[in-house]
Amino acid sequence: MSADRASATREIKARLNILDLVKRYVDLRRAGNRWVAPCPFHQETKPSFSVNEEEGFFYCFGCQAAGDIFDFYGRINGLDFRESLEQLAEEAGVSLDDARPDPKASAERDFKKTALRMYETARSHFRRNLAAEAGRDCRAYLEGRKLAPELIEAFELGWSLPEWRGLSDALRRAGFTPRQGVEAGLLAAGDKGNAYDRFRGRLIFPIKNLSGQVIAFGGRIIGGEDAAKYINSTDSPLYKKGDNLYGLFQARRAISVKKSAILTEGYMDVLRLHQFGYANACGVLGTALTPEQVRRLAGFCSELELIFDGDAPGRKAAFKACEMALSKGLACKVVLLPEKEDIDSLLQEKGAEAFENLRRFAPEGLDFCIRTLSGQAPREALDWVKRFLASVEQPELLSRYASRLCRGLDLDERQVRAGLQSSSSASSGGAGRSGPEGASAINSGRDVFDREVLKFLLRYPSSLPALRDAGALLLLRQGWAVSLWEKVAACAPEGFHPEAVLRRLNDREKEFWGRSRVMEAPPPDYQAEELADILAMIARRCHEQQAGACMQALRQSGGKGDYDMDLLKALNETLIRQRTIGSSDG
Ligand code: UTP
Ligand code: MN
Repeated sequence: MSADRASATREIKARLNILDLVKRYVDLRRAGNRWVAPCPFHQETKPSFSVNEEEGFFYCFGCQAAGDIFDFYGRINGLDFRESLEQLAEEAGVSLDDARPDPKASAERDFKKTALRMYETARSHFRRNLAAEAGRDCRAYLEGRKLAPELIEAFELGWSLPEWRGLSDALRRAGFTPRQGVEAGLLAAGDKGNAYDRFRGRLIFPIKNLSGQVIAFGGRIIGGEDAAKYINSTDSPLYKKGDNLYGLFQARRAISVKKSAILTEGYMDVLRLHQFGYANACGVLGTALTPEQVRRLAGFCSELELIFDGDAPGRKAAFKACEMALSKGLACKVVLLPEKEDIDSLLQEKGAEAFENLRRFAPEGLDFCIRTLSGQAPREALDWVKRFLASVEQPELLSRYASRLCRGLDLDERQVRAGLQSSSSASSGGAGRSGPEGASAINSGRDVFDREVLKFLLRYPSSLPALRDAGALLLLRQGWAVSLWEKVAACAPEGFHPEAVLRRLNDREKEFWGRSRVMEAPPPDYQAEELADILAMIARRCHEQQAGACMQALRQSGGKGDYDMDLLKALNETLIRQRTIGSSDG
């Protein structure tokens, strides 16, 4: 992170209160000097989620989600750090312009703003068309499909005139050039720098980002024209196919309340689900479910209900979607539709009861995978299991998945696990200290010494020089502890701010950070006393090691009978000192 960015994040944090931000998404209650709520990141009813306003971070005792205002915002909205930074900077009125502005990046930012205005112009153009006399055919079509007016309103459907210059003229009148229209994915390029409408004679579905801005359109052909049934805006700086979900903006509240999202294929399917009261439905839009989409959904819910066709391609797609959801720690269920139905036609013709029946018997994701794999050659199934287990992001889930898969597929769990361990330990290693860490070493801590030192260091990062001078770094035995130490040390140039430390940590380390600073933390204001305790512990460990080294040397030379007096003297001294230290803090 550049120093500029560090000061921008500090500035944003100074201007935005984490409490106010979290309150937009979570129903926080005061509990003593903390604010608590059920965690928005995992399913529960207990208030294990807490916000520390003063220090500007949140922490969940249940799922160990932890972080600062950027982590929270990114996680709940499914954004990466850069996106969260940009959006919060905008909200806080902080400029992110670096000392050396990147002309390409700033041109892209400017174009995004222009494109958003173009999409806004297009959205109202299409909506006006639908309401006007010229929209009669499209309105008749919607009536024929029995789409409720509230939905047409809520999803802001529109109509593109069956002509070449409807939208292109509207954009020109609003001051945009043909080239801008093409770059934004709205118009098609003609010759001589002209542009013409891509969407002609189509029912228009605006696709929104999570802030409710229109970033793309889908369009369904109305009338018997010989054209693709659906077209979408082409990829643009605002929109990449596979990154977004249709209807997520409208569905996100229901998704986070229910902690579950219904995922379906098409535009009409999403609308119909909403019409029947399934307000947590959104659509993947003609692509296979992507990791990006799962990441976005995971910010709101912990379960996906996947609706797919019951035919072979549908099952295959469902299998892939399950694999992705499970490997990212989301629960899922698979609802397979009867032949020749989509969820729109099912609801419309057979009613909600028919859908409820399918849901009741929908297999859980892992069972669905097991059933699918049972029909494959054993070797293929085994390969899949290995690949899947290796892709699981939270190691805590491994044993659950492994034992269920192995039981379901009649595989020897011990052997599968052994295979996994040897392939994962090959890739990690501690620099000459203890060997590869078990996934949970950092938070279970076999070595109390390393844990205590690092806990203290995370509570008081500025104590690093004092700890180092006492020799703490040299005494650490575990790879995770050394690497965490180094991350704190890297903050020195910025000053040891807790948020500078936090920014560098991976999820596992953040969990430890949260434990050190919230869960297992003594009341503040005892830093001096704590430091004295830690230094004493370090000194004890130091002498133990010296004594150990002396003893070893003695044993080696002792075999030959000629005791080295210096060694003996040194040993004696360390043992005496050790005893004094040991009793002084008893
Ligand atoms: P479907 O062909 O099943 O259409 O495509 P649909 O959604 O049921 O629409 P209706 O009920 O006939 O009006 C499913 C989804 O696949 C994408 C669209 O997102 C569509 O909603 N698709 C389909 C395309 O992108 N292009 C196409 O030509 C067809
Ligand atoms: Mn359909």
